[in-house]
Amino acid sequence: MSEYIIKGGKRLEGTVNISGSKNAALPIIAACLLNGGKSILYNVPKIHDTEMMFEILKSLGGTVEKKKNKVIIDTNKINKFEIPENLMRQMRSSVILVGGLLGKYKKAIFSYPGGCDIGTRPIELHLKAFEKLGINISKNYGNIECFCDKIIGKKIDLDFPSVGATENVILTSCLAEGTTIINNAAREPEIIDLQNFLNKMGAKVKGAGSSHIEIEGVKHLKDVSYNIMPDRIETGTFLCLAAINHSEMLIKNADANHITPIINKLEEIGCNLEVEKNQIKIKVAKKLRAVDIKTMPYPGFPTDMQSVFVTLLTVVKGTSVVVENIFENRYRFTQELTRMGAKITIEGKTAIVKGVKKLYGANVKATDLRGGAALVLAGSVAKGITKIQNIEYILRGYEDFVKKLQGLGLDIDIIKG
Ligand code: EPZ
Repeated sequence: MSEYIIKGGKRLEGTVNISGSKNAALPIIAACLLNGGKSILYNVPKIHDTEMMFEILKSLGGTVEKKKNKVIIDTNKINKFEIPENLMRQMRSSVILVGGLLGKYKKAIFSYPGGCDIGTRPIELHLKAFEKLGINISKNYGNIECFCDKIIGKKIDLDFPSVGATENVILTSCLAEGTTIINNAAREPEIIDLQNFLNKMGAKVKGAGSSHIEIEGVKHLKDVSYNIMPDRIETGTFLCLAAINHSEMLIKNADANHITPIINKLEEIGCNLEVEKNQIKIKVAKKLRAVDIKTMPYPGFPTDMQSVFVTLLTVVKGTSVVVENIFENRYRFTQELTRMGAKITIEGKTAIVKGVKKLYGANVKATDLRGGAALVLAGSVAKGITKIQNIEYILRGYEDFVKKLQGLGLDIDIIKG
């Protein structure tokens, strides 16, 4: 297994270009099933998770042609409707393909995605919504079969503003008879990007970004080309890298409108941010202040930023209280930070972080995607050498991560395992 080797303490500064959003690209790739034709996507991040989605599309009969700055997907010859179990298990978010298959072909077979590193990740909200839309669901031995003759638009009230469930209902409803209304929909910016993509295809979706979304079914969807939005979590990750290193950095190709809660928290802690149209300059005061955080559905503080922000707080004077309200097991990375000298107490959903003067290099293991990125931030300021194993987690969501970090002056290398 490959690992990162980081020598902490070097001065970081400079410019970093943000890649396309993983969490916008994945549902948009699934949406390419709906037009049964060609979709040209620009700014798709070259990461493990998009590669996995391409593999699944190809296993269903689709074609994927990767050029320098675009991906050409053709779903004209899709002739299978079962998502391979091994691929489903490797990437839970492939459940989003179910909405694309149901929306276009009214059938989908997939295995129960099962839990992952940050929680059980159930999908009952997805299944309840599918049933409401008239889809028959049968479960046997971990496999779920969904099929129906036609999909009739309905009113769907989500018990929780689930991002994936909202996206799956939108995909399932684009070619339905009548109109589907989603109440208590997730409001994440990636859902707006999905809506914009679908409407360019000829769909009639409105309200994304609010908790009330309407999808008026249409008969046909056409070929499309689309430029995917920048990754707001990668943006936040590099802003926190600057903050923990007290560095001045310029974050380019970023959309500051998507990260208001992150900007507010960084300013509260003592960072100075100059926000322009598609770039953010960050300068960091010598002294940072402890702050409290509660993760919430968008537009609250994003759960995906929790681990990197907790890491920043480990070296900020004072005591910070963090509450993780979205996932039930998203503190595993803190055990690794403790090995580096961090002082963190976990009580249920709450992490109490007592700032220390210094972190020390250690051998640590990435526990999940964002937890792994958090360990890179810790290694960048730790005294000595930090070795991070299980970096496959990190490669799932950060394009050219090592190259970008080296470009900012971090002493980091990959040891191929
Ligand atoms: C999306 O996951 C993101 N992934 C996650 O990012 C992100 O953390 C999450 O939304 C919340 O913002 C992608 O977009 C690919 P949810 P998703 O359904 O759709 C529970 C990253 O690091 N729930 O909003 O799976 C669920 O268990 C990843 O990039 C149910 O109980 O998130 C969780 O506790 C991690 N039943 C909460 O809701 C359901 O049927 C939020 O889940 C569905 C969800």
